[in-house]
Amino acid sequence: MPKSLSTALTDKIQNKEARVGIIGLGYVGLPLAVEFAQAGYHVVGIDTDSIKVDALNRGDCYITDISAELFSDMVSTGRLMATQDYGAIGELDAISICVPTPLRKTRDPDMSYVVAAANQIAKHLRPGTLIILESTTYPGTTAEVVLPIMIGNGYVVGEDIFLAYSPERIDPANTIYGVRNTPKVIGGVTLDCADVAMALYDTVVEEVVKVSSTQAAEMVKLLENTFRAVNIGLINEIAIMCDKLGIDVWEVIAAAKTKPFGYMPFYPGPGLGGHCIPIDPLYLSWKLKSLNFNARFIELADEINTNMPRYVVRKVAEALNEDSKPVRGSKVLILGVAYKADVDDVREAPALDIIQLLMQQGAIVHYHDPYVSSIQFDQVDISSVDHDLSILESVDCVIIVTDHSYYDWTDILNHTNLVVDTRNATVGLNGLARVVKI
Ligand SMILES: NC(=O)c1ccc[n+]([C@@H]2O[C@H](COP(=O)([O-])OP(=O)(O)OC[C@H]3O[C@@H](n4cnc5c(N)ncnc54)[C@H](O)[C@@H]3O)[C@@H](O)[C@H]2O)c1
Repeated sequence: MPKSLSTALTDKIQNKEARVGIIGLGYVGLPLAVEFAQAGYHVVGIDTDSIKVDALNRGDCYITDISAELFSDMVSTGRLMATQDYGAIGELDAISICVPTPLRKTRDPDMSYVVAAANQIAKHLRPGTLIILESTTYPGTTAEVVLPIMIGNGYVVGEDIFLAYSPERIDPANTIYGVRNTPKVIGGVTLDCADVAMALYDTVVEEVVKVSSTQAAEMVKLLENTFRAVNIGLINEIAIMCDKLGIDVWEVIAAAKTKPFGYMPFYPGPGLGGHCIPIDPLYLSWKLKSLNFNARFIELADEINTNMPRYVVRKVAEALNEDSKPVRGSKVLILGVAYKADVDDVREAPALDIIQLLMQQGAIVHYHDPYVSSIQFDQVDISSVDHDLSILESVDCVIIVTDHSYYDWTDILNHTNLVVDTRNATVGLNGLARVVKI
């Protein structure tokens, strides 16, 4: 009896003969591609961005979390290559889709990248191929959006082709947890789909967790990120309450987290950023709206978190006022514009809102970020200034927005008058500057 396509594909995977494709070579796709290449697969990355494709093929690693040496090794040995040509799909056995899932201006899900990638894959798809959607999305996307495209040319899912959803949980700049030691959740459209996808991931991650459906797998990711967004919203509101009560919220959190059970610390900050936490919960609330359900926790946390940049600017105005200075005409230096420490990603970063709000109020704003040489918004380009003592000494206020480990906080405290610290970066340090915390 001839082998079923699922058995044949599983055999290919286990023998490392399967050719793996990664669609979208960004913060998620590139580390995944390197992990598959390192595990012994031949990996082809497909991206619409010629700059990324060319960089990869030259062996130039553009994601800081990946070892440059390992990367160039994978490229020079031919294990890893990239192309803009979707024709390569016909040669592949397993394909992971890692394209963006942003919000539209109306704050609704923008599925255009997923749909475009799925349409291109479907054009070249051959029987015996596994497709795994990894982009974060609302429950139902794999079955309602991707599946109809994949079976459009008559393939039967679970027999001819295999389709699964597996959320990407990577945490950029995390030096402890990476692709290999972060458990991977998988849900298949059918049982065979899940089993083939598990066989693939079993070869690159230490633990694979199977759930009963693609919808459940999609919901896992949204639970994780909604949990973070809501708890950050809660602690941001607690920070505002503490400020009104004259209590140091950071001291309260430090003491609360000594409780060994029933509490886990979240920290206030200047607002949410990145491609995940500010966006993903809104995918869920959007989906629920179509079922006439109002996701109140998500909406409330979103309101609190998106207002944090305004709160920071208010604290800056009050702090300048104490020095008898108006915001208009004051020189302000923002330290760090990336959305979190030690990354170069400015997507949804609160620093951008803080800069715009301060400029609208007439402040003269400069920024420094060791990872971000320039930022653009509203057709304005701003370049990072040099980080030297003269700039620190020349400004009326320094705002710590991102606590990159690059900075020497004591040095900063000793060469400026006023610091608004949104990250508690200066805790326990002394210097000449007056420090205002959120
Ligand atoms: N960045 C994170 O920390 C993170 C973590 C977990 C999950 N995610 C999710 O993973 C997905 C990807 O995020 P990212 O941060 O890697 O995005 P990214 O913007 O860094 O990378 C996406 C890549 O896809 C490419 N692309 C766009 N359309 C394409 C198409 N039709 N065909 C081929 N390539 C295409 C882009 O050029 C880009 O290189 C998103 O759904 C995101 O929510 C991101």
